Amino acid sequence: MRARNHNGETVVGLEIATTKVVFMVAEQRDDGEITVRALATHPTTGLRKGQVVDYESARTCLGEALHDLRQNYSVPIKRLFLSVSGPHIQTLRNRGHVAVLNEDLEITEEEVQHVKQVAAAISLPEDRVLLHTIFGRYRIDDAQSALRPEGMTGARLSADMLAVHGSQTHFRNLAKLVRDLELECSDTVFSGYASAAAVVRPEQKRSGVVVIDLGGGTTDYMAYTDETIGAMGVLGVGGEHVTNDIAQAFGLTTREAEQIKRDHGSSLLERTTKVTELARQYNRKRTVPLASLRTVIHARMEETFGLIRERLEAEGVLAPVGAGILLTGGGALLRDADVLAEKVFNKPCTVVSPWRLHGAGLADRPELATVAGVVRYGLRNKSDSGRHSGLLDWFRVFWDGDREGVEQDDLFV
Ligand SMILES: Nc1ncnc2c1ncn2[C@@H]1O[C@H](COP(=O)(O)OP(=O)(O)O)[C@@H](O)[C@H]1O
Ligand SMILES: [Mg+2]
Repeated sequence: MRARNHNGETVVGLEIATTKVVFMVAEQRDDGEITVRALATHPTTGLRKGQVVDYESARTCLGEALHDLRQNYSVPIKRLFLSVSGPHIQTLRNRGHVAVLNEDLEITEEEVQHVKQVAAAISLPEDRVLLHTIFGRYRIDDAQSALRPEGMTGARLSADMLAVHGSQTHFRNLAKLVRDLELECSDTVFSGYASAAAVVRPEQKRSGVVVIDLGGGTTDYMAYTDETIGAMGVLGVGGEHVTNDIAQAFGLTTREAEQIKRDHGSSLLERTTKVTELARQYNRKRTVPLASLRTVIHARMEETFGLIRERLEAEGVLAPVGAGILLTGGGALLRDADVLAEKVFNKPCTVVSPWRLHGAGLADRPELATVAGVVRYGLRNKSDSGRHSGLLDWFRVFWDGDREGVEQDDLFV
């Protein structure tokens, strides 16, 4: 179990996402709540779906965001926690087994550590790096399931492990960006995991819940069932696809399409003869039939939710979800996204923002879920990260794949 971070320490979180880069400086309060000391957001340039496509442009954009942060936060910023997203992120499951050799068959901490090692012993292809090793339920004699098996008895102990891994090239470029800003990365966290950590409440975790973060170019999901993480992943589709669909369907610029999506869009179909006017600054006389606009949006949103439903069903984690679906990320602000999700998943669905987060202008900001989760992760794991000194070590940790997993309960308390 990792040592907890001392109250009063600050951490810096960085999310480099499709539409924006966000730095957040936050501090843990004595009561466990988080106070945000500074926040800087800048529109993303040079990245697509979380991957660097134009290095110089990406560096400038991050540099400007950092400059803004330094303007409103006087303490020096050196180390940060970084979220990682993109369709290159994948998961791998493994189950490990060990025999319980104690005379009385009592399972001790030693057996638990051993079975975790066995479950975590996977080999990834050379071009992949390990991001998280998350342990789920244990099984005793293939019969009884346990969250904490220490003290129980049995002849055989098994552990389930979910590894989250990503593309090495992707990490290398992100690492270079961070280094070029003369910053050090303490640790990285999968953005979907971070978003879930920021919005899920303990009672939802107990009942089982799915978190969907609708971003610009990606949609992350994470299912929490049976008090463990059942599935997580990324789709390379997001709000920008909705915008592009609108632009193509009605011959608009992306900016116009974005505007019309926010002002008149909805995920639901509507029979109406009403038309919507385009943003006036372009002096264009075009109008868009509202019913067609919604048909276009509905098609993309229904497809996106449908893909996630298929993946969750394939993993067998949708049926046991009792607390329903939580939608977050900027895309969750699309009108009636929750109503459509309710139909697709046949589960109650709510739009949520980070909770236990304090600071001006932070209420109802679903687009901050990831960065809020990153600082939560950082506050949880900061004391441990001291052993990595800078990016070189950070890389060494990646190359060796020698990285201790963060137990999920460390994140979701
Ligand atoms: N009011 C709104 N209505 C509809 N979509 C919105 C609204 N606000 C933001 N979005 C969409 O949210 C997406 C960005 O979400 P965000 O979580 O900030 O993305 P990312 O983290 O990937 O940069 C964009 O595609 C944008 O169109
Ligand atoms: Mg996001």
